[in-house]
Amino acid sequence: MHFTIRQLRVFECVARHLNYTRAAQELFLTQPAVSMQIKQLEDQFGLPLFERLGKRVFLTVAGQEVLGHVRAITRQYEDLENAVDRLKGHESGHLRISVATTANYFVANLLAMFNQKHPNVRITLDVTNREALLKQLSENTVDLVIMGQPPDGDDYEAGNFMDNPLVVVAPTNHPYTQRRNLPLKELAGQTFLVRESGSGTRVAMERFFDKHGISIVTGMELGSNEAIKQSVQAGLGLGLLSRDTVQMELELGRLAILDIEHFPIMRHWYVVHRSGKRLSAVASEFKSFLLSESRTTQKM
Ligand code: PGA
Repeated sequence: MHFTIRQLRVFECVARHLNYTRAAQELFLTQPAVSMQIKQLEDQFGLPLFERLGKRVFLTVAGQEVLGHVRAITRQYEDLENAVDRLKGHESGHLRISVATTANYFVANLLAMFNQKHPNVRITLDVTNREALLKQLSENTVDLVIMGQPPDGDDYEAGNFMDNPLVVVAPTNHPYTQRRNLPLKELAGQTFLVRESGSGTRVAMERFFDKHGISIVTGMELGSNEAIKQSVQAGLGLGLLSRDTVQMELELGRLAILDIEHFPIMRHWYVVHRSGKRLSAVASEFKSFLLSESRTTQKM
């Protein structure tokens, strides 16, 4: 048996009016079009649904039975349409984003701004390093990712929405804090505390020193920006971090940014998803929000 929701709706309308002309008017169809839909439905069911007595139209017994089911089906169908609308609508729905550990330092401000505009959106935020983000992107388990460097190739769409300068930090009593435009070669042989190997910051740092032929001493490997900051303050070495991560320590005078030739390393923050991904309305709203409005948050 094959019938369409549209045929069921036409049937329900005729049954409600018991009049083909009025049903046609309500449905913005011609009367022959309504008759044809009913005829096709009757053929599918193998039963007459209406009978004409004189000029009047009546439901047959089969028609009465079918009408009860059709009403239940169309109600369910409307529930489904509403649920899908809610999922698509950017006023509610669920936003699943994953951000690089380092992006965690500014993403809360962005989410607060977005939440003010869309208070009914439910947000799930995962904070992890670059390697884990790449895995999530390839497995398509998140809506959007915020990361420091999008993967190469055509498989991903990435929009750059904010600068991400990387700086060298030292304890405030370090002698280099007194120097201006320190030649890069003076970093050769210095001990740097480094992030774990899946970190985007670490990759950027290694590329930078390789490119400039500077060989540093790799000190402790630490799994978070916080751990690096604490260890730099404790005098265990220098740190190379995103400036976003050290705002508070700079204000409290616990760390200093060194003034070094070729610094800051200018990177950017990107919002990334797989090419061709059908973003939910909420995800696409959040992406537009990042691309259009977030630059102002850098001043926050
Ligand atoms: P990280 O992220 O926290 O993995 O270093 C920053 C980035 O993606 O560059």
